[in-house]
Amino acid sequence: MTKRIQQWFSLLITAFVLTFSLSVTASEEANQSTDIERLGESVVQKEIVGFAGADYWRMVKDGQEGYTTSKSPEHGVLISVPGQTWYVLKEKWMSPLGALAIFGSLAMVTLAYVVVGPLKLSKPKTGRKIKRWSRLDRALHWSMAFTFLTLAFSGLTLVYGKHFLKPILPTELWGWIIYAAKQYHNYIGPIFFILLMAVLFKWWRKSIFNMVDVRWFMKMGGMVGKHKGTHPSAGFSNGGEKAIYWLLIFFGAIAAVSGFVLDFPIFEQTRRDMELSNLVHMFSALILICGFIFHIYIGLFGMEAALDGMITGEVDETWAKEHHDLWYEEVKDLPENQPGYDEKVEAEAKGEPSQKTS
Ligand code: HEM
Repeated sequence: MTKRIQQWFSLLITAFVLTFSLSVTASEEANQSTDIERLGESVVQKEIVGFAGADYWRMVKDGQEGYTTSKSPEHGVLISVPGQTWYVLKEKWMSPLGALAIFGSLAMVTLAYVVVGPLKLSKPKTGRKIKRWSRLDRALHWSMAFTFLTLAFSGLTLVYGKHFLKPILPTELWGWIIYAAKQYHNYIGPIFFILLMAVLFKWWRKSIFNMVDVRWFMKMGGMVGKHKGTHPSAGFSNGGEKAIYWLLIFFGAIAAVSGFVLDFPIFEQTRRDMELSNLVHMFSALILICGFIFHIYIGLFGMEAALDGMITGEVDETWAKEHHDLWYEEVKDLPENQPGYDEKVEAEAKGEPSQKTS
C-alpha cells in the first residue's frame, strides 16, 4: 500500500515539474517576442526619423549602399554618383556636338547643291537599260532605309525632343510622343540588326576595296575641283559607295550591339555598363546619321539618274558608262542587258512565240 502511495506521489511531482517548466518556457518565449517586437518598432522608428533626416539623404546622394531584398547588382544604391559623369558627357557634350554635326552635314549638302550643283550626265541617255539591282536588292535597300530613318527620327526625338517639342506641345501629347518613340525604338532596333546582317551577306563581296578605288579617291570621285566631270573609273561600286557601305556595317554593328545591351538589361549589367552603352550607341548612331545625310543627298539630288537603279532595278546605258565604266564593260554583253530581253522572257512565260530582239 505504502509502495502504491509512493508511486502516485512521484507521478504527481513529475507532472507538476513538467507543467511548471513548460509554462516558464512559454512565458520566456512570450517575453522574447515582445522584445523583438519592441526592437523592430524602434528600428522602424529610427528609419522613419532617418528617412526624414538630412543625414539620410546626404548619405543617399553620396552613393552610400543600403539594404534591399533585391539581389541584382547595385540595387542597394539609390543614387549612383559616377552617373553624374555620364549625365555631363551625354547632355553637355555629346548631345550639343551631335546636333552641331547633323546641322553641319545638312549645311554641307545644301552648300554642295548650291555651289557644286548636281552631277549631270555629260551625254544624253541612250534609252538602253542595264540591269543593276535585283528585286531582292531593292527590297533590302528600302527596308533598311525605312528602318534606319525611322529609328533615327525616334532616337533623335528621345535625345532632343525635350528641347524643341516639349515646350510647344500639350503635356499629354508630349508624353504620348515620347512613349511611342521609346517603344518604337526598343522594338524596331533588333530588326535593324537583322537587316544589317542581310546587307552584310548580300553586298560584302562587291564592296571590297581595290586599287581602282584608291585612284577614284585621288580624283575625289570626279565630283569637285579640277577633277569635276572627269568620271574616274569604277567597278559596280565606286570608292565612295564602298566607304559608305563599310561605315554602315561598322557603326551599324556597334549601334546594334550597344542597343541590345540597353534593350535587355537582364544580364546583370551594372549602371556603368548601361551608361557606357548609351554613349557608344549615341556616338555610332550620330556618325551613321551624318554619313547617310550625304548618301541620301547623292541619291535624291546630287547625281542625275542615280535613283533610277534603286527604283526600277535598271540604269541608263549612259549613266552606267559614265559612273561605273568597268562594270559596264563586264555586263553590257549579257543577254539580260540586250534590248527586248524582258519582253522576250515575258512572251515565253505566256507561251507566245518569242519576239525578234535586235
Ligand atoms: C531616302 C533615302 C535614300 C535614298 C534616296 C537612297 C538611294 C540609294 C541609291 C540610288 C543607291 C544605289 C547607288 C548605285 O546604284 O550605285 C543606294 C545604295 C545603297 N544605299 Fe541607299 N538611299 C537611301 C537611304 C539609305 C539608308 C538610310 C541606308 C542605310 C542606312 C542606305 C544604304 C544603302 C546601301 C548599303 C547601298 C548600297 C551600297 C552601294 O552603293 O553599293 N540607303 N541608295
